[in-house]
Order: sequence, then C-alpha cells, then structure tokens
Amino acid sequence: MKITPRVFSGMQPTGSLHLGNYLGAMLQWIKLQDTHECIYCVVDMHAITVWQDPKELRNATRLVTAAYIACGLDPKKTIIFNQSQVHQHAELAWVFNCVARLGWLNRMTQFKEKAGKDRENASVGLYAYPNLMAADILVYRATHVPVGEDQKQHLELTRDIAQKFNNDFRESIIEAGFEDGIFFPLPEPVITGPATRVMSLRDGTKKMSKSDPSDLSRINLLDDADTIARKIQKAKTDPEPLPTEEAGFAGRPEAENLVGIYAALANTDVASVLREFGGGQFSTFKKALAELAVEKLSPISTEMKRLANDPAEIDRILTDGARRAEAIAAPIMDRVKDIVGFIRG
Ligand code: AMP
Ligand code: TRP
Repeated sequence: MKITPRVFSGMQPTGSLHLGNYLGAMLQWIKLQDTHECIYCVVDMHAITVWQDPKELRNATRLVTAAYIACGLDPKKTIIFNQSQVHQHAELAWVFNCVARLGWLNRMTQFKEKAGKDRENASVGLYAYPNLMAADILVYRATHVPVGEDQKQHLELTRDIAQKFNNDFRESIIEAGFEDGIFFPLPEPVITGPATRVMSLRDGTKKMSKSDPSDLSRINLLDDADTIARKIQKAKTDPEPLPTEEAGFAGRPEAENLVGIYAALANTDVASVLREFGGGQFSTFKKALAELAVEKLSPISTEMKRLANDPAEIDRILTDGARRAEAIAAPIMDRVKDIVGFIRG
C-alpha cells in the first residue's frame, strides 16, 4: 500500500455555485484531471452542519454535480460522488475527532465566522467540520488538494491531524507493515492561479460568497447574460483609471479583484491584462469583462440546465462514482481499524 499521487477536493451543495468557486477551485480541478487520479466530492454531510431542507439538499446535490460536469469534469476519467454514499468518511471522521485537539479547532476562523455571536447555539457538527474534511482527504490518502485561499487553514489542520495520527500510532503502523512509520501522507494544498480569492463585487474587502444577502455581490454560474452584464456594470470601482502595474492596486481592492477575474477567465496573468487595459477607464474594461464572462459562463449554464433535466442520470453517475470511491477507501479504513486496535471480522 504505497502512497501514490492522488487529488481530492469537494464543494458543499448549499446555494448555487458562483464565480469564486469556478475560478478559485474548479479551474484547477479541471486541469488536474488530465495529469492525476482525481476524486471530486459533493460534500452533503458538511452541508448539514447548518440546517438544510431535505428536498432542497437533494436538488442542490444534483445541481452541483451537474455543475461539475458542465464545467468540464469527465465522470469517466474522474470519480464524482456525494460524500454520504461512502460511509468510510464518517468512520474516519470519528477517529479524527479523537486525534484532533479542542485547542486546534478553537483557532478555526471559518467556525468563528459561521457560528457568529451565538456560538452556544451552533451545531457540534459545525465545530467538528474540519475533522470531517481531513477524513475526506485522508480516507483516500490523497496527496494534493486544489482549493481556494479560504480553505488553507483547514488544510493545515488536516496535515496536523495526519502527523499526530502517524506519531500517536507509530508502533502499530510499523507492525501493520508500514516500515517507515508513515501511514497518512501530509497533503499539499494546491492554491494557484490569479483568482484564488475572488472578492464581492460590492465590497472588495469581503470574499464572494454563497451566503452574502446581496445577489449583486456575486456572479452565479446560472446567471443569464443580461444579469452577468448588469452585475459587472454595477460592480463597485473607484474614480481613477486602471493602474499600469500591479503595485498600483495598493488601496484599490475592487480594481484588483476585477482584473484578477479577467485574468483567470482569459487564462492569462494580471500583468498581461494590465498591459492591455492599464491607464484606461473602468467603463471600457467592464464592457470587455462582461463580454468575456458571458462567453465563458453561458455554455456552462446551458449545459447545467440540460443535465439537471435528467436527475436519474445524475444519480446514476453519483452512485457509480461512490462505488469506485469506496473501492479505494475501504481497504484504507480497514488498515486504520487495525492500527487503532479495533477488531474486525
Ligand atoms: P464552498 O462553496 O465553500 O463549498 O467552496 C468550494 C470551493 O470554492 C473551495 O475550494 C473554496 O475555497 C472555493 N471558493 C469559495 N469561495 C471562493 C472565493 N470567493 N474565491 C476563491 N475561491 C473560493
Ligand atoms: N470545506 C470545503 C469548503 O467549504 C469543502 C470541503 C469539504 C473540502 N471536504 C473537503 C475541500 C476536502 C477540499 C477537500 O470549501
């Protein structure tokens, strides 16, 4: 059971996917499927850390799956499934609940943001969320995790959990036949590209998010061409022309965000966007950005809608993916049970 390169990532089926998900994570997922074994999950168990309407959860799970495929993931090459269909995630998460320390989880900024002021009323699941995320990754002994910048802290925790498990059970790991005493790899975050942190169109200091009450703050993958153009036209900017070099973004988060979005959509870098638009007015740039966004996103939304019309086919893809995922996870979870000292038949 050697550790081999393997990619794992996931998105929550809550609300609709937006440009931040697409540019921050999905573009990297798509690139990696040509070079690596990839497993991409719809994390429905993470979704219920805050209450979800059961019907909506089913719909959202199918819609996110449709988005994965419409964006260019190929369910033949890549494993696509929903988390709750592979029970090993929950089993390993319990073991990790006993490995991770309260002090580690207390530092998680996402919990503090999501729980808000009423911490006492947050679910225990919301608190233990990062342990389940570590289990998602390590139940496949995955080595690379493509995500947006906001997930960096959770991945550091995943590495801490892997390291502590390897230390705590070192002897038992060697007895199980892993001579170097290393059972879990320390997975590497893959946070790359010009848009690892896409910001709100209304406030360049806040990240673009599904939960922002203003729909004008984000571009959803299902927005039609007019809506995309209108949101970009209304996006907050400042009165200055665009800077001619990256240093000129200091104190201008909205300008930096829009140029980063352009670069990511055009598959180029910020410097070359500034060579083209630097010194010009926002009105000209916004027009070009709206055209580019519509050109890239409308084929995706058309395909998403087509796929969503056939929920039985989506369910079939998820179940097939779950079977293939479980074939990898089951022997790894069996080893974990041996290492921890659980008897199994
Ligand atoms: P979530 O929607 O929270 O399930 O996030 C799914 C993926 O999208 C994760 O890899 C996030 O890091 C990424 N992501 C979410 N919002 C943004 C954003 N505003 N900018 C860049 N990446 C993001
Ligand atoms: N926490 C991630 C998010 O909100 C989603 C996620 C769950 C994930 N499990 C994962 C991402 C495993 C990468 C790997 O974006």
